[in-house]
Parts: sequence; C-alpha cells; structure tokens
Amino acid sequence: MNRAPTLNAAGVGSSTRSETAPILRVSEVTKSFRHGLWPFGARVAVLQGASLEVGPGELVGLVGENGSGKSTLMQIIVGLLKRDGGTVELDGALGYCPQLPELWDKLTVAEHLQMFAAAYRLDDATAKASTDRLLEELGFARYLDYRVEALSGGTRQKLNLALALLHEPQVLLLDEPYAGFDWETYLRFWEMSAARRADGMAILIVSHLLGERERLDRIYTLKDGRCISS
Ligand SMILES: Nc1ncnc2c1ncn2[C@@H]1O[C@H](COP(=O)(O)OP(=O)(O)OP(=O)(O)O)[C@@H](O)[C@H]1O
Ligand SMILES: [Mg+2]
Repeated sequence: MNRAPTLNAAGVGSSTRSETAPILRVSEVTKSFRHGLWPFGARVAVLQGASLEVGPGELVGLVGENGSGKSTLMQIIVGLLKRDGGTVELDGALGYCPQLPELWDKLTVAEHLQMFAAAYRLDDATAKASTDRLLEELGFARYLDYRVEALSGGTRQKLNLALALLHEPQVLLLDEPYAGFDWETYLRFWEMSAARRADGMAILIVSHLLGERERLDRIYTLKDGRCISS
C-alpha cells in the first residue's frame, strides 16, 4: 500500500506551469517485464516508446486491449514502477485511483479519509470541506463508520475515488474508476469529472467503454507499446 506518498512524488522533473503547456508529458517511455524463471525466462516488452500529453482542464482517455500496458503506464507516471527509458514530466500534485482499490480491511471509511488528509497535509478546514463534498457527490456518508471489509465492491470503489480526489490534485490518473458503480453513480462520476475539468484539473482516464468517447477531449489507444492519438 503506497498510494498516499505518491503526492508530488512521481520522481520526475518539474517545470513552470502555463495555461497552454501540458501539465503531464510522457515521452518515449519503455518498459519490459521478465517472464519465466531466470535464466530461462525472456523479457517481454510492454511499453515501446509510449508518449502522451494532458493539458490543464483536459479529460483524456487511454484505451487498449487487456494486457496492452495501460495500468503499467499509469504506475510508471505515478512512480510506483520504474521505467526502463523515456521521461515523465509532471507539474503539480498528483491523484491516483488504482484499478484495484488499495485499502485497509480493518480501517473504517472515516479513518481512510483522515489518514489520506494527513498524508496530503490538508488543514482541518480544507479536509472537512473536501471530505463533505466527496461524501455528498458520491453518496456514501452513511458508511463513514464501516470498516472496509464490510463494504460492497461499489462502495470500496467510491472510497478509492474519493481518496484520489481528496486534495484536489492538478493531475488526476484514473484506472477504470467506475467498475462496480451503479448507473446513477456512473453518471455522477462524469459530472464530478466535468466539474474538476472546468476548474483546470488535468484528468487521464483508462476506459473500455466506447460510449464514453464523446465525453473525452482526446483518446490515446495503447497498441504495440505505443500511444496512438485520435
Ligand atoms: N509486475 C509485473 N510482472 C510481470 N509482468 C507484468 C507485471 N505487471 C504487468 N505485467 C504484464 O504487462 C502487460 C500489461 O499489463 P497491464 O496490467 O499494464 O495491462 P492493462 O492494459 O492495464 O490491462 P487490463 O485492461 O486488463 O487492465 C501484461 O502482459 C502483464 O502480464
Ligand atoms: Mg489495467
């Protein structure tokens, strides 16, 4: 569990922000994994020069077949995985919603929110305002005192998303954040994204559903280790 320290910790360079410049720029990133037992295994190249950009206020999709490397690329941007080559430039605080919620079974929803607020170094008033807003938007205030082990899959996913948004980051990475959401929550999710985009947040979202394309400013398709823009 190492999501909280990813705030501002992608291990990447920083630059002066401007309204037009990308706030996230990934250039020619390469990554391979060894499969099979050493010394018989072989390295399999997953990313072979993946590049993408997201500007302030942009909502950008990342699509591709299962196993094409979408989550790998996100983990490299966040700094959870080392890249073999290429560069990642990021300007501002980062929020990350992993594909599989990384939560502590024995802690309550409220304890998760408090712990992440502390990790993000939010003052009490900001933490309360942000927490109240997210509980209201996602409609899960009644679960505040529930331990994670007692939550449904969809409610865990709501907490996963709320933790990524708690500090209102400048760049938000979402890896299939709505898996398990009911229809109403799914629509609410897109409203929330639109509101953050209007405030200048840059959002990169892994998505599988073709119906979402009209909601996105741009789509990158990850194929053969490279990102194709459309
Ligand atoms: N830690 C790892 N060790 C070895 N191989 C890995 C590791 N992580 C990912 N891979 C491999 O890298 C490839 C890309 O995986 P990744 O999870 O990034 O795909 P994805 O595009 O997110 O797929 P999905 O749509 O199913 O979520 C897969 O072949 C996977 O087996
Ligand atoms: Mg994935």
